[in-house]
Amino acid sequence: MISAERIRTLADGARMPLLGLGVWQVPNGEQGVNAVRWALELGYRHIDTAQAYGNEESVGRALRDSGLGRQEVFLTTKFYPGHRDPEAEARRSLERLGVEYVDLYIIHWPQGGPTWAWPGMEAAKAAGHARSIGVSNYSVAELEQVLSAASTPPVVNQVQFSPFEARRRLLAACTAREVVLEAYSPLGTGRHLADRAVRRVAERVGRTPAQVLLRWCLQRGTVVIPKSTHRERIEENGRIFDFELSDEELGALDALDRTNGTDRAREQKWW
Ligand SMILES: NC(=O)c1ccc[n+]([C@@H]2O[C@H](COP(=O)([O-])OP(=O)(O)OC[C@H]3O[C@@H](n4cnc5c(N)ncnc54)[C@H](OP(=O)(O)O)[C@@H]3O)[C@@H](O)[C@H]2O)c1
Repeated sequence: MISAERIRTLADGARMPLLGLGVWQVPNGEQGVNAVRWALELGYRHIDTAQAYGNEESVGRALRDSGLGRQEVFLTTKFYPGHRDPEAEARRSLERLGVEYVDLYIIHWPQGGPTWAWPGMEAAKAAGHARSIGVSNYSVAELEQVLSAASTPPVVNQVQFSPFEARRRLLAACTAREVVLEAYSPLGTGRHLADRAVRRVAERVGRTPAQVLLRWCLQRGTVVIPKSTHRERIEENGRIFDFELSDEELGALDALDRTNGTDRAREQKWW
């Protein structure tokens, strides 16, 4: 069982579990319901979905079926910035999810510029649709812009982050501004699992490559949201709080960074 006590307090006082289940590319329907159901059974208390993933209904169904109280699970969804009104879209998300509020609502990516959607995000929070609001795929420059325009500052920046995409300057800037960096694609969408250096560290500590990659994120100070549709992998990915990587092992993983410590969130934009 994964301890739900492993949490990070956000700048607005909300408590966010350090480990969540990501559900990008998880189909709506039985597969989606099962993945979320297993995660909740295994002790996960944090689920990361998005309007663009098309599976909010399944997330909501699994949450209801779990019998857990709404306040026991930290639920994130993301505003799809191809739409215009974050507050109206939040209401639609709540309907699909079948909940009264989400814990975190973030702008999925800064399409059309980093600030235009922020007043709508603040409106979603003011209306009670979201307890906390944040951003995703924001570079330091984009984060600065939204921070200077905001009445309510973002408390999370969800970005691609792993030993291979270590974004040192972005992490430092987020930390300095009390914005929690949330690591997405921590396994490189599966690509980093076969890396020889990662496997060497895994053999040394007697853990799996996935556990090593996730543990590195935790020790670098991020929240982490691995995705899997397999129960045994969801369980494996949750067993990351009972071991530690040494400075030497962390250093071997740090050396894999291909971003040169960038302050940017993406090397290529898809928007
Ligand atoms: N904000 C954004 O723009 C953004 C972008 C990308 C991702 N995200 C979020 O971050 C989450 C995670 O990122 P991701 O989906 O790119 O992938 P990831 O978590 O880096 O890796 C998931 C892949 O690794 C496999 N896997 C997972 N655990 C494993 C294990 N223990 N052993 C072997 N293989 C394993 C999964 O396969 P199976 O499923 O077949 O087990 C899947 O193919 C997403 O689901 C989403 O919530 C956000």
